[in-house]
Amino acid sequence: MGACFNIAIDGPAGAGKSTIAKQVAAQMGSVYVDTGAMYRAMALYLLEKGLDPKMAKEDPAGFVKQVETLCKEPQISIEYRDGVQVVLLNGENVNAKLRTQEVSDMASKSSGVGRLRKRLVELQQDLAKKTSVVMDGRDIGTVVLPDADVKVYLTADSRVRARRRYLENLEAEKKGRDLSPEDLDLDAIEKDVKERDERDMNRAESPLRQAEDAVLVDSSDMTIDQVVETILNLAAQKKGRPQVITARTAGFCFGVEKAVAAVYEEAAKGGDIVTFGPIIHNEAVVEDLKKKGVGVIETEEEIPAHADGTIVIRSHGVPRDLYEKLEASGARIVDTTCTFVKRIHEIVWKASREGRHIVIIGNHGHAETLGTMGWSGDAVTVIETRGEAEAFSVDPATPITVVAQTTFHSDKFEELVAILRNKGYNTEVNNTICNATHERQLEARELAKRADVMIVIGGKGSSNTARLYEICKAECEQTCFVQKAEDLHLRLAGTEKLIGITAGASTPKNIIEEVQKDVRRTDF
Ligand code: F3S
Repeated sequence: MGACFNIAIDGPAGAGKSTIAKQVAAQMGSVYVDTGAMYRAMALYLLEKGLDPKMAKEDPAGFVKQVETLCKEPQISIEYRDGVQVVLLNGENVNAKLRTQEVSDMASKSSGVGRLRKRLVELQQDLAKKTSVVMDGRDIGTVVLPDADVKVYLTADSRVRARRRYLENLEAEKKGRDLSPEDLDLDAIEKDVKERDERDMNRAESPLRQAEDAVLVDSSDMTIDQVVETILNLAAQKKGRPQVITARTAGFCFGVEKAVAAVYEEAAKGGDIVTFGPIIHNEAVVEDLKKKGVGVIETEEEIPAHADGTIVIRSHGVPRDLYEKLEASGARIVDTTCTFVKRIHEIVWKASREGRHIVIIGNHGHAETLGTMGWSGDAVTVIETRGEAEAFSVDPATPITVVAQTTFHSDKFEELVAILRNKGYNTEVNNTICNATHERQLEARELAKRADVMIVIGGKGSSNTARLYEICKAECEQTCFVQKAEDLHLRLAGTEKLIGITAGASTPKNIIEEVQKDVRRTDF
């Protein structure tokens, strides 16, 4: 292995190669070489010179001859300008002209011509000798970089690839691009995808095939992040470094995602906007919103000052009397209370009116618990610990209704419920722990069991993150809790095989990505 570390990513069209290759290159600090763009630039030149793509079918020999002559003429190179790859055709930046269907067709037809390929391959090899690169295409691992340090053959089911292209076409149409009916016909797109595979696999010169030493990655059921992580882990293995695996469930849950998006949407409209309590337990997000003019109020006394503005109720929800005060204040109310929390409010509201005593299994003082208490009438008890469950006592004739804070520890909930059930009350139990929380906890536990080091990312005040930490710590001695990448002072012994990462529901993606990058850079 030389000073340059090169990664080759091959595979059929629509497998997501270029998206993945760009992200892998960005994470590794390598240069992304878009070989497809170089072929497209050549195809653009051929079209500009008047070569008719139909000729490839009508007069194949004549077509090849013309391509062989014309391909000697242009100068094609790649440069990075302000971090953006720029393809130069005879000195002109042609990035904007390379993504048309016409260019794409011509590239597919002309790229099988040996002389054209040879010229482009030499250029690409030169680049890989000078700097660490990530290159994607159809014959990178087999022809262009046969000595690449990591080779990946990235594929996906033809239907999945067709669906991806269909969605891209829909987006393009929304942006005003003129499309043919076939461009929005999933079956027609899939047929085209298969035909293209057939063409690419059977062309005489450098056909598409998996290099013997390439790792097959099927992205049909994977997110982009998972594919990127898989490739980064292959590179880590090759370098003798630990693998880094991030839990699929790490980061924003559905409710938080919706709430944060709603606030950013309001911020974009401008005017006086405040959230009642910080929108999430994450200082960076709250700070960013502050810069966009979104303030935070914490008390009822502050409400009148925003009577002409907009007040956002966060995903935790608020007590019923506060909700009514906000509604009556004259302010525009944007209620982002999570649907699952609303359901708890409905349960306790109804049960209270039926004369039932409400038991909330949750954290004392947590915003969601306080909100739920405020929908429960006077007969309500919050139970957080085993001791509190054991000491719980009401009139034996009073039926009780149990609910859980959505982010409570599921095992602990079961333990406390068992204690309550033993008391012989008429007990109705609603396990309202959110599935997102439950899945996050399960995945964190499984990951922590395998990991040598576990990193839990989240805000100081986030109870669901604190819970994740407890769960991971029980399985993995070296578990660290950080709010952001700068808090991480990891010391690796060099023997670690796997570093796991998970994050609470209020952790934005960019913070998770910074931690991932830092972990990958950490020296032994
Ligand atoms: Fe809602 Fe569950 Fe998130 S309750 S706010 S989706 S953790």
